[in-house]
Amino acid sequence: MNDDLQTRIQAALANPQNLGELADADAVGTVGNSDCGEMLRMWVKFKQQDGKRVIDRATFQSFGCETAIAVASLATELIRGKTAEEALALKTEELAGELGALPPMKIHCAQLVEGALRSALAPAAVSPKPLAESKPIPPATAPTLLDSFAQPKAGGVKITFLEP
Ligand code: FES
Repeated sequence: MNDDLQTRIQAALANPQNLGELADADAVGTVGNSDCGEMLRMWVKFKQQDGKRVIDRATFQSFGCETAIAVASLATELIRGKTAEEALALKTEELAGELGALPPMKIHCAQLVEGALRSALAPAAVSPKPLAESKPIPPATAPTLLDSFAQPKAGGVKITFLEP
């Protein structure tokens, strides 16, 4: 990895945005990469704006590497104010934002973020529910990643493993 990219990643990590569980999220997606063992979960909350259902806030937790955390930090800022369809239309390299082009060995880190976003947003994009029908995810079905690992048989969490 070149020094410029490492510097940009460190800058993003120095002040990570949108880190942590979003207790009243409308959607949640969790993905894992079985090759490197990293996991990332993303929560999304919608709001009505100008007659559209747009992303009000997105947060994440990760056991991912520094690159995945940096991309998730930037991507959760980038998708604010976008509809689910607009967010889903973003390409992997767009989610990496100001990090710029990633080296081949780090592209899957951004794909982890993209996968979590798709996992969270795909149902909303296909059948958007009016906000009044949106239900907060109770803590029991939206445990933290640490909870998931501590109680792997507690169930209720769908983890999508990305294709190698
Ligand atoms: Fe696997 Fe970054 S090394 S997500």
